[in-house]
Parts: sequence; structure tokens; C-alpha cells
Amino acid sequence: MSERLPNKTALITGAGSGIGSAIAELFVREGASVALLDLDSDVTEALASRLQHQYKKRCVAVEADVTQPQQVQSAVQQAQQALGHIDILINCAGINVFRDPLALEEEEWQRCMATNLKGPYNLIRSVLPGMLARQYGNIVNVASVHGHRIIPGAFPYPVAKHGLIGLTRSLGVEYAAQGIRINSISPGLIMTPAAEAWLASCPDPQAERERQAALLPCKRIGEPSEVAYTALFLASDEARFINATDILIDGGRSQIYHE
Ligand code: NAI
Repeated sequence: MSERLPNKTALITGAGSGIGSAIAELFVREGASVALLDLDSDVTEALASRLQHQYKKRCVAVEADVTQPQQVQSAVQQAQQALGHIDILINCAGINVFRDPLALEEEEWQRCMATNLKGPYNLIRSVLPGMLARQYGNIVNVASVHGHRIIPGAFPYPVAKHGLIGLTRSLGVEYAAQGIRINSISPGLIMTPAAEAWLASCPDPQAERERQAALLPCKRIGEPSEVAYTALFLASDEARFINATDILIDGGRSQIYHE
């Protein structure tokens, strides 16, 4: 079968774990060369080296904190040097911040917004000039069902993810006439290290895991690869008329009002 990202280059943030790692692996399998960005390049270097060896595509690790514009700028330059240019940006780095709104510390609000909302914007600002120069670019932001529906007890994460969907729509329209597409994807509960950590923090992790699966119409929790395939579709030229929109990947859960 032919590759779905032939000769494409992609920069993927949060590539050291969970959904970001799954996207990296699938993109390389489908023909892309990739730059894997994360806070600590130890994990991404091992992944890049394995993928390059296995699929014979150029794979590099770049280190940056997405909340820091200068680090992001320098990581994007490294990625551009290694790959030539960047066709695709996947903004997947993100963190859970779930607090009682009145107990929330100033620093926690800042960290949530800086990572989940400003971080993707920092990346977009850095890759856009190169994309505009070539009149070609696909950006996929990893938002969340929390960007569509409110689950009590998760504040202020949904505020950031609603904002990320707004950023997607706004910038998607701004640059549509210049060959750039910007979309987002909104996963429901996906079994990743972050989700495992959240389950482990619950009083009865196994009971919570079963409760979460039961809430889903399909009665099972999602897998990182299922998110990766949606990112692949949006990032590929198969989706060339899809822009400034969001795709939910939640097994249908967010459509339920009451069981
Ligand atoms: P994860 O915790 O397994 O992976 C996130 C990666 O992002 C980690 O490697 C981490 O080091 C990196 N990261 C965090 N802050 C960073 C920063 N400031 N700079 C650079 N890298 C940073 O998380 P998971 O579950 O794979 O989530 C990935 C994305 O998907 C996040 O944006 C998350 O909000 C979103 N999401 C996840 C869902 C889930 O159920 N797992 C559901 C809906 C959305």
C-alpha cells in the first residue's frame, strides 16, 4: 500500500509519551520524516533512533519547554535544519490541571494556560513563517472533549482546551488563503501515562477505570493509536478541504445527555 505522508516532514510536540509518541510512530510508518519535541530529549532521542533505524526516515529529537517562546524558536530552527522545512505541526504537548476553582493557585492557572493554550500558539508562531514562504502547511492541535463539554472537577483544563479550539478556528481562517490548514482533534479518555496517573490518583483506580469504560457508548477506553489515525488523516492531503474545525474522538460519549 502507498504511504499517506510521502516525503512530508512533521514536528510533533509531546512526542515523548502517550498520544504524541503514537502519532510519531504512525507518521514515520506512513513516510514522514519527523522532529520529536519534548521537555527532556532522552526519551525522544531513543524513540527517534528506533524509528529512524526501523523505517529508514530521518528522525531527530529536539528539546524545548513549549511555554518558553525562545526555546521553541530554537527547537523549530533545529528541526528545520534537520528536515529542510516543516510541512506538518502537531501540537500534542499538554498537561492535566484539575482543581477546585477556589483552591486553585495563581501558578497552577498560569501553568495550565501556558502549556495547553499559549504553548501551541508559540509553536504555530515559530513554524508559520516557513509554511507561509512555501504556501503549504498543516497544523493539528490536540484539544480534548473538555473543549466541548464540561466534566465537573476538572477546572481550569477545560478553559484552556476551549481556548485551543478557538485558536484553531481563528488562525485556520486567518491563513486559509495562503495554503495553511489548522484543525484540532478532541480525544475522550485515552489510555496513556497521563490517564494512568490520573486513575492512580483516584481512591479506587480499578473501580474508576471500570466506571469510565461503562460511561462510553462503546464500553471501552480509547487507545493512543486511534487518536494518531485521526491526526494522520487531518495532516495528510486527503483532508485538503478540511480547515478550522475539530474532530471528536471519544467513542460517542460527548453526544449523550443522560443514559
Ligand atoms: P502524556 O503526559 O502521556 O504526554 C504528554 C507529553 O507532553 C509528555 O511527554 C510531556 O513531557 C510533554 N509535555 C508536557 N508539558 C510540556 C512542555 N511544557 N513542553 C514540552 N513538552 C511537554 O499525555 P497524553 O495523555 O498523551 O496527552 C497528550 C495530549 O492529549 C495533551 O495535550 C492532552 O491534554 C490531550 N488529551 C489527552 C487525553 C487522554 O485521555 N489521554 C484526552 C484528551 C486530550
